[in-house]
Amino acid sequence: MKDHILVLLGTRPEAIKLFPVIQRLKAENVAVTVCATAQHREMLDQVLKLAQIAPDVDLNVMTPNQTLDHLSARLLNEIGEVLGRVKPTRVVVQGDTATAMIGALASYYHRIPVSHVEAGLRSGDIYAPFPEEVNRKIVCSIADQHFAPTPRAASALRSENVPEERIHVTGNTVVDALILAKAMVEADPCMSSRWDGVREQHGNRRLILVTCHRRENFGGGVLNIVKALETILAREDVAIVLPVHPNPNVRDIFASRLAHHPRVTLISPQEYTDFVSLLSMSYLVLTDSGGVQEEAPTFGKPVLVMRETTERPEGLEAGTALLVGADYNKIVGETFRLLDDEQSYAAMARSHNPFGDGHASERIVKVLLHA
Ligand code: UD1
Ligand code: UDP
Repeated sequence: MKDHILVLLGTRPEAIKLFPVIQRLKAENVAVTVCATAQHREMLDQVLKLAQIAPDVDLNVMTPNQTLDHLSARLLNEIGEVLGRVKPTRVVVQGDTATAMIGALASYYHRIPVSHVEAGLRSGDIYAPFPEEVNRKIVCSIADQHFAPTPRAASALRSENVPEERIHVTGNTVVDALILAKAMVEADPCMSSRWDGVREQHGNRRLILVTCHRRENFGGGVLNIVKALETILAREDVAIVLPVHPNPNVRDIFASRLAHHPRVTLISPQEYTDFVSLLSMSYLVLTDSGGVQEEAPTFGKPVLVMRETTERPEGLEAGTALLVGADYNKIVGETFRLLDDEQSYAAMARSHNPFGDGHASERIVKVLLHA
């Protein structure tokens, strides 16, 4: 049977991490169907537009403040219907979202083999990140091709008895995406000058880039984080730039507590290229995001990870990231240390990315086409 690869994506990070793979696949002589579940809407569309990818199928499943059970039930029905109609020979899923997990399950029900991009990340705690740790384990138990971003991720797969010949260490495709985005910014004067107004507004204050959206932090965690940011903002020498995730569980708290502060720039989710520019001009990063942890080391930006644990310990081991949880004292203490102690800052601000070398999608497509 002739190869027909269906690439499934639903959220912003999946689109960012899969667009380099899709672009490469499309350059080959192979049938490719891109199916967007649109578990995210605006945030997904932003990336697809930038990457000039028009999905062949769009399931448009997002509803405001969707619950995991409703989202998953809907995804299973709709993805199953697409698989029955399109009949691909292989399905590619990325990461640990509901789209990836249900996509793998639906493929299994249709007896279609699954390739897993960004395989082998493990925190060891099924509730952190929730529900992503279990999502990726489910994908792992179904997939027959595992694209591990790092040797550590490959070891995790081996320890779960995934056969060696099914594991491919490729690097993380986020580094490929980052390199492509950097090149776009450098080639376009409008993109390069996108943040001139913000630079002007905050003068020579050091910019702290903040992102926050994880389910584990909803409620008390987000409140601690906001309180810590307010304490940090009492200093005149810093400003905060915060692209707010549209999930109402975080959006409303940031908007009500921080929107009117003169040293806070609260903005909607940014184009990937604009976010990459923000990263490059920031002094340090406070985040609970997975992808941002993987990107910051390319620019040598210290990352304070607002999680109790991380499935991406490579940054901690390299000394460029530190776990601070959603803990007020740790967030404030470590931020002040990086602002006031040049040696501590220099020790973390090393520009080396342990997550990838920019050639992950090349390696993945090679395996997809010649396996
Ligand atoms: C999802 C993923 C998470 C990933 C995150 C990236 C799951 C279970 N979680 O979490 O792993 O880190 O995406 O951001 O798959 N919304 C909008 N517009 C958008 C996107 C989201 O309004 O473009 C709002 C909607 O109210 C939506 C809500 O955010 O219902 C939550 O979206 P959902 O995909 O369920 O969860 P995330 O927290 O985004
Ligand atoms: N990102 C973006 N615009 C923004 C904020 C983040 O393009 O305003 C990118 C960021 O560079 C990273 C990805 O979104 O590649 C991370 O997505 P998110 O934090 O939503 O999800 P996670 O990585 O935690 O799954």
